[in-house]
Parts: sequence; structure tokens; C-alpha cells
Amino acid sequence: AATVETSFHVKNLTVNRLCQNQVIMAVNGSLPGPTLRVKEGDTVVVHVFNKSPYNLTIHWHGVFQRLTQWADGPEFVTQCPIRPGGNYTYMFNLTGQVGTLWWHAHSQWLRATVHGALIIRPREGQKYPFVKPYREDTIMLGEWWNADPNDVESAALATGAVPNISDAYTINGWPGDMSNSTCRSNITYRLDVVPGRTYLLRIINAALNTQFFFKIANHNFTVVAVDAAYTNPFPTDVVVVGPGQTTDVLLTANQSPGLYYMAANPYANAVGVSFNGNTTTGVLAYSNATQTTPAILPVLPDFNDTATAFTFSSNLTALVSSPFWSPVPQTVDENMFITIGMGLEACGSNQTCGGIFGQRMAASMNNNSFVLPTRMSLLEAYFRNVSGVYTTDFPDRPPVVFDYTNVNNSFNQSLNLLMTSKVTNLKKIKFNSTVQIVLQNTALLGIENHPMHLHGFNFYVLAQGFGNYDPANDTRKFNMVNPQERNTLGVPVGGWAVIRFRANNPGVWFIHCHLEVHLPWGLGTAFLVENGGTPESTLPPPPADFPQC
Ligand code: C2O
Repeated sequence: AATVETSFHVKNLTVNRLCQNQVIMAVNGSLPGPTLRVKEGDTVVVHVFNKSPYNLTIHWHGVFQRLTQWADGPEFVTQCPIRPGGNYTYMFNLTGQVGTLWWHAHSQWLRATVHGALIIRPREGQKYPFVKPYREDTIMLGEWWNADPNDVESAALATGAVPNISDAYTINGWPGDMSNSTCRSNITYRLDVVPGRTYLLRIINAALNTQFFFKIANHNFTVVAVDAAYTNPFPTDVVVVGPGQTTDVLLTANQSPGLYYMAANPYANAVGVSFNGNTTTGVLAYSNATQTTPAILPVLPDFNDTATAFTFSSNLTALVSSPFWSPVPQTVDENMFITIGMGLEACGSNQTCGGIFGQRMAASMNNNSFVLPTRMSLLEAYFRNVSGVYTTDFPDRPPVVFDYTNVNNSFNQSLNLLMTSKVTNLKKIKFNSTVQIVLQNTALLGIENHPMHLHGFNFYVLAQGFGNYDPANDTRKFNMVNPQERNTLGVPVGGWAVIRFRANNPGVWFIHCHLEVHLPWGLGTAFLVENGGTPESTLPPPPADFPQC
């Protein structure tokens, strides 16, 4: 195995999108940022230099960080931010997973433009469990703001209001030629293909607040991996991908010579959530095409087509012949039931707040709105045994149990049900325990599919469905044989999902909604996985250049 070493210089870059120049934060002068290409088993060393005016951390989304917990990156969870002018070296190993991951800033809303792909190919002597692609290409879906995304976040947090939405969706940084009625971009992402060849497309959703449907006109895909875990081949004409998720598909150029549109549109079944109404496009171009502009747009599902989203996500299964597969733990040590959803925080009596009911917007897990510390990271407080930074009383159950799915955003709930507690409480877990979590979506305010992301682990998705989770019937639906493994799962709108994992990685691991707007509102918590009894199961000390608060 090799060591792949590189530097990230994070600084201002002026780019032109939607007919205007905009200063963005970018890594090494590019949007999306540089792609890291490694083989399974390699070690990655990235020297990050923060030349931006903002606090910064980088997260390696989906990397387990075994014995490199200090390199995980979420701000105030594992580390203090790299201050402007500072630097920090992230070093970690990539063993046990092949496919597509990505990296992104994990501080304020910087990840809007500070992100890139992390591609893991099989190690020497190993092959893909599918036809060797002629070429591999990365498709990063994103969002574009005609404003500084950090300002968008700050403005919303100042009054407790819902933030502005993005001005365009993007494919590899380009809005595409239907992106905006007044200002279309004629520079679009273009994927050149040779007729008859098969390509591996690595589709990454790097958007802050948008889940996407992605299609290519007249073409079908075969899904072969999600979140860097192999799946059984799954044929589909549409890919559904939430923020944080990746989907690897095979695409064969088997249509008549021509230029075809690829396109992405939002998926969300959320009352009161608005979208900018634009479709982002790119071009699939056959080498023997005679046209110069694409003619056919794919027919994308409607923004509230939950049936299509559910069909896609609930039919994926793991490839158990993968060298990285391990069977589902049959017993459960920690059984949790966690409600996830929106809520409110009281507006101060002499303040004016822009949220629903004149309160401040909040979001929670088991009615707890997670507040990040500012004095030191949770991981450091745990390691150094510093008290007063967090508690370990995250509840295994919500405070009240009711029909979470039938209230349907009627906005007439008693304010009590909606009010969350602002706390920094973790769940302590013994090393190597098996953990099962029922994630139950609530629909008190807004009915949404929440893409829930767990740091430090992949989890098995045992089952998912609509309505209230019913243990008597729904346990029978568990797939214990070949459930898909993921690090991010869209918990169905007005529904639930059951995930399971083995806590074999000591450290403090964030679990949160990957819709960026829900993070400052508190939709997260962290698992404190205690040390095991061996050096390989013990949290090492932080590196010498570890940033201080
Ligand atoms: Cu991709 Cu905690 O994030």
C-alpha cells in the first residue's frame, strides 16, 4: 500500500456563474475541489492550509478513521477549527472499503464550495466485482449561491428564520443551460463517450440542502455501489441521492449517436420548503454524434415523488460476496428509538424572531437540539477528562410517544410538543456493542426526508417504511441477509428506518442530518464509544499540530 500526500490551500477564488462574478472559498483554485485518488489500503496525508477568512475543518465523509479519530474533522466534535492563517495535517488509512467517498468542509456552510471526491479503487491484485469500465467519471451534484453561503447561514440564525434557498443546482460546478431563465450558462459539464463502451459514473451529492433525482435521457444505469460499499447490480433509469450520499453506476453508451441531456432536480416532499425551480443539466456526448446541441431532456420525477425515491432506496441490497462484507450482528446490545424532526426554540421576550409561530427554528433528535461546544472539541474533552463540556444522558427514547406522522404540518400543535431542549448530551456506548436505532421521522413542522449521516462507521439498513414504526410487525421486515451498508440514509418522509452497526471504533462520532440547514438547528448527537481492552481499540493521543480553540 502507498502513501498519497497532498496539500489543500483553502482561499478566495473568483468565479463567474449565473452572469456574475462571485468570490468563493475554494481548495487549490478549483470548484469542485481536487479529487483524491487512492487504492484500498493506502494512507492519505493532506496538509490543509487555511488562507480563508473563516474558521475551517475538513471532514473525510465515510472514512472510518480507525485510530485516527483526530482526523475526522467535524468542528467542535473531534477538533477545534483551523483558524485563518493556520494549518493542520490530516492523516488516515483507507482499508476495508472500495468505491466513492468525498471530503468537505465541516464548519458553517463552507462545504457549499469546499468539497471534492475521494475515490478508492481496489488494491493491487483485486478487481471490481463487475465489468471493467472503459473509463471512470465523477459527477458531483451541488448548489450555487449568488451570495456567500456563510452569510446566508448567519442571516438565518440571527432571526431564527428559514434560510434562503440556493440560486441554482450544479453538475461538477456548472448550473447548465436551463439553470436560470434570465441568465443561462452555456458552459455545461460534458461527458464524452465512445459508442458501445461502459463507463463507471461516481455520483456524489455535495449540495447543502437538496436531495436529487438524476437521469440521462434515453439511458439506463446499473447501480453497483453506494457510499463505498458494493451492492447487488440494481438496474434503474433514475438515481436518487441525498446530501452526503454517493452512488456508483455503470452506464453503457448503447443508444444512437447523439448528444443527450443529463439532468438533476430536487426531491423533497416538504410542505413550505421552496425550490428555485431550475433544472441543472449536463451533456452526454457520443464521439460519433453529428448534432452540436443536445435535443432530449430526461423526464425527471416530480419534486414530491416519494414513491420513486422509496423504490430506489429500499431495493438496494449489499453484495455479500464482497471481500469487505461482514454479516449482520444477530443480537442487539443497545436498542434506541430516536425521533428526528423539526421543532422550535423560544424567541427571547424582547426579540423578534423569523421562525414559525414567531419563534426560532430548531430541529432535534428525541427532542434534544444539539449544541456544539466552543471551548474544546467533544473528543478532546473526553480524552482529557475535562468536565462541563458535555453530558452523557442522551435519551434512548423520546419524551413523549404519539402518532408522529399524522399531524401533517398542520401548525396547530401545542407549542409544548414543538419546543426542544438545547443540550450537549452524548450517548455512551461500550466498545464492540451492537447498536440498533429506529429512526422515526416526525412531521410536527415540515414533512421531510432527512438524510442521516453517521461518522466513523457504516451501518446496515435493516428496513424502512412509512407511518409510525410498529415493532410487532416491522421487525418481520428486517433484511438480516444482505441489507445495504451506508454511512448516510434518507429516512423516509413521514416514516422510519432501522439501522444497526457494531461499535468497534472508539471515539466520539457525530450522527446528524446532512441537510446543512438542520445542523445549526440541532438535528444531531454524538456517540461516545469507549475504549476496548487492546492498543488497537484505544483512542490514541492527538497529533502535535492539533488545533487549539
Ligand atoms: Cu458529510 Cu458530518 O458530514
